[in-house]
Amino acid sequence: MMSEITVDGKLTLKKGASSKILMKYMDPATEILLHRTRAVCDAIMVGSNTIKIDNSFLTVRHVKGKSPLRVIPSSMADIPLDANVLGPDAPTVVAVSAKAPESRVEAIRNRGVHVLVSGEDRVHLPLLMQQLYDIFSVRTMMIEGGPTLNWHMLHYRLVDEIRLIHLPFIVGGADTPSLVGGMHIEDENQMIRLVLKNHYLCGTNLVTEYRVCYSGEHTGHEGHTQS
Ligand SMILES: NC(=O)c1ccc[n+]([C@@H]2O[C@H](COP(=O)([O-])OP(=O)(O)OC[C@H]3O[C@@H](n4cnc5c(N)ncnc54)[C@H](OP(=O)(O)O)[C@@H]3O)[C@@H](O)[C@H]2O)c1
Repeated sequence: MMSEITVDGKLTLKKGASSKILMKYMDPATEILLHRTRAVCDAIMVGSNTIKIDNSFLTVRHVKGKSPLRVIPSSMADIPLDANVLGPDAPTVVAVSAKAPESRVEAIRNRGVHVLVSGEDRVHLPLLMQQLYDIFSVRTMMIEGGPTLNWHMLHYRLVDEIRLIHLPFIVGGADTPSLVGGMHIEDENQMIRLVLKNHYLCGTNLVTEYRVCYSGEHTGHEGHTQS
């Protein structure tokens, strides 16, 4: 998972705003890092709402290299047909559920895009990962958010690394999208623990890299109680 994130943990300026506004403030060196990371992955995935709001291309642009397979889960196949991600710049998979209307699925296929049925009522992310592995030989995939998709991928334990590009801003807003959305946890035992693997400056931006440790895995930094 790789995200640009403000000091207060937000991914964009406010609910419904494009993260492209924030990305304008990334150091050019970090933008290159982002595109270099895309170029070494077999696939890149973002949620359908990010496509609706950001209209992302998800291609490799600032470095030489092949654009990865673009993967968009959209249970009802309702991403706009003129979305940049459906264009010819790179191959794309749209994952839908069996409930997606056939007319929308056909319209997406007519744009030269692969459509996978990956669940009954909703896209089932573990099934989608298996399909990508079996059909498209995907071995490494980068997730570029948003928070709803990030939460579901973590919930299914499908994320093994988190890489953050820290932007030196505070934007506030209780409902401003942060790195992970979804449901709150009930207690500390449900916290997903991370181990810091690496941190460095890329241009002027701090970059941190974490390994994700799901419950049962040993981090070396388990909590302790004091009385
Ligand atoms: N700073 C950054 O790095 C960064 C990166 C990306 C996005 N963003 C920002 O994040 C915001 C959008 O985030 P978001 O949380 O609203 O949306 P999101 O995570 O981009 O997309 C969520 C949508 O994906 C679809 N989906 C299909 N199957 C799913 C599944 N199994 N699990 C989860 N989602 C599934 C769902 O729509 P259906 O029910 O229609 O299928 C769901 O509503 C935007 O403001 C964008 O600018 C920031």
